[in-house]
Amino acid sequence: MKETDFAAAKKRVAVLHREINEQNYRYHVLDQPEIDDHAFDMLMQELKELEETYPELRDPDSPTLRVGGKPLKAFSTLEHRLPMLGLDNAFSEEEINEFDARVRKLSGLEVVDYFCELKFDGLAVSLQYEEGVFQRGSTRGDGYTGEDITGNLRTIRQIPLKLDQPLTLELRGEVYINKKDFEKLNRQREAEGLMNFANPRNAAAGSVRQLDPRLAAARPLKIFIYGLGEHSLKLSTQSELLDYLAELRLPVNSNRTICRGTEEVWDYCLKWQEEKEKLPYEIDGVVIKVNELSLQRELGNTARSPRWAIAFKYPPEEKMTKVVDITVNVGRTGAITPVALLEPVALSGTTVQRASLHNEDLIQEKGIMIGDTVVVRKAGEIIPEVTRVVENMRTGDEKLFEMPRQCPSCGSATVRLSGEAALRCLNPSCPAQLVEKLVHFASRRAMDVDGMGPALAELLFNNKLVRDVGDLYYLKGEELKELPGMAEKSAEKLLSSLEKSKKNPLRRLLFGLGIRFVGEKASRLLAEHFGELDQIGKAEIEEITKIEEIGPKIAEAVTSFFNMAETKSVLEKLKKAEVNFTEPKEEKINTDLAGKTFVFSGALENYTREQVALVAEEHGGRVSSSVSRKTDYLVAGSEPGSKLLKAEELGVEVIDEGQFTKMLKNQTREK
Ligand code: IVH
Repeated sequence: MKETDFAAAKKRVAVLHREINEQNYRYHVLDQPEIDDHAFDMLMQELKELEETYPELRDPDSPTLRVGGKPLKAFSTLEHRLPMLGLDNAFSEEEINEFDARVRKLSGLEVVDYFCELKFDGLAVSLQYEEGVFQRGSTRGDGYTGEDITGNLRTIRQIPLKLDQPLTLELRGEVYINKKDFEKLNRQREAEGLMNFANPRNAAAGSVRQLDPRLAAARPLKIFIYGLGEHSLKLSTQSELLDYLAELRLPVNSNRTICRGTEEVWDYCLKWQEEKEKLPYEIDGVVIKVNELSLQRELGNTARSPRWAIAFKYPPEEKMTKVVDITVNVGRTGAITPVALLEPVALSGTTVQRASLHNEDLIQEKGIMIGDTVVVRKAGEIIPEVTRVVENMRTGDEKLFEMPRQCPSCGSATVRLSGEAALRCLNPSCPAQLVEKLVHFASRRAMDVDGMGPALAELLFNNKLVRDVGDLYYLKGEELKELPGMAEKSAEKLLSSLEKSKKNPLRRLLFGLGIRFVGEKASRLLAEHFGELDQIGKAEIEEITKIEEIGPKIAEAVTSFFNMAETKSVLEKLKKAEVNFTEPKEEKINTDLAGKTFVFSGALENYTREQVALVAEEHGGRVSSSVSRKTDYLVAGSEPGSKLLKAEELGVEVIDEGQFTKMLKNQTREK
């Protein structure tokens, strides 16, 4: 190697670093590209070639090393040097005024300056720089420890791998995905037969938690930096701080402002409520911070959140749509529930086309008619509900809805019992009720019969294979295979999960039987007190009410359930099929595992699949073979494959074998 060549290469590498970082900044942070993609690629190509010729010139913070490293087996945890706190919420102008009153009282000031900015709807991350070099980054986690997602954060081109100054500090910010990029990502996924993400925030969260940084790099992740963790900068206001971060070429949002007093704060909130749809990214509110840093310090924090800041949250998204029709649903207790069929409408990330109207009174109260234009929103961000009718959109063609006089399933007369809001079908042999009873029995929190949802329950019932839950345990492979759309594999799966369900503790069986007013808790209390199903069946009301927390209403429902002829015949069948009727005593419950659902994937070091499933169950955990929203943990071994991707998509927590073993060791308590 000629000395002069090397020296020239070294110089050129430095120039390329500077130029590439500059162009990256212009493109990804300022959104003002100066050169086209091709010119940029040429610079990168040149740098890569030089680094290949002279590997000693390849710096850890080289722009060629954004995407790299091997896929991880699992994320390791990182402790936050300063806890990552949350924010208190305000939902009205009044609550903002109350916040301001507290700040003024504590500070003795008459008017307070607030720094207002947008509340980005993504996920919080922390970035640590040492001597100006990006070292580590993590998720918020529980506020005290998060997951080390450094490899994924490095792929975000707005994050400088090296700051212009050799600062040691911790940045805090929000990782998000733009609305347009989110749509594009979902279209791509559809084309590949993958499941859609529900909203940009879930897409961002799933992407940041990819174990393979190359996959994360392919996701359109972005970030806004909004504050600092540990640092030693000398600044006097929040506003100055953000300006300084922008000077450091960090991605800082420009819609920030200082508001003097709450009136200006409120104007800012309203302005962005009006205009938030126009933003390229999603926000769910405004963050209001005391601007003076000295005052922030003086006010301090509670255990959960700072006293110097509050989040004003916008009300949930509402949309107008039309009630095309109203139908009814018959539940397992015979309750007849009206359901609005809606013209499909996109609402907070999903398409909504049905909303429960709960009961007759509610329809009356809200004055809902078939054909009405209504406002819908999601209660608790999940369940769609009709909030009100837009009366001035009525045409006169709307029709009143009447609850059916006869059960739509069995035709028997419907009744409204005194003191109840629900209309009921009282026929115990009503097919709709029987099907719903099967579904409930098989549901996850009851007997947990994998694969048995409403469609299968209906199929079994309509083909006269099952009438009550007792019949489930007499199903045969041959007859299942005859059913339309039933593959041999699913038949086998059903039989084996039925077999497995026989071992469930009594409390689950009791809950699955669907006795009125007997939910999960009452089932557990009854099972623990009596120990055996037969004892509960024989018990008198007085004996049952001896159990603390169980009153006469439940006791009566229990005794009348066990006195019914139908119950006796069902229990007979269950007993003959050797379904467990007892509640295990003195069971050790591991407080970390109890009630949690685990999925294991890939090879583990210390267990076979069968062993690990047994161990998890012995400690009160549940084991499932596939990842769903209900999964609590995916335990990833080596080469965890597609389950891992699914878990990441759904935001299911991924742990490794070591973390799982640690959970096993955690303190167990006597039941
Ligand atoms: S400041 C101690 N500023 O909101 C205060 N948070 O509910 C730390 N968020 O976990 C938060 N935009 O993920 C702050 N401009 C903003 C924000 C913001 C979004 C998120 C952040 C935080 C959550 C608190």
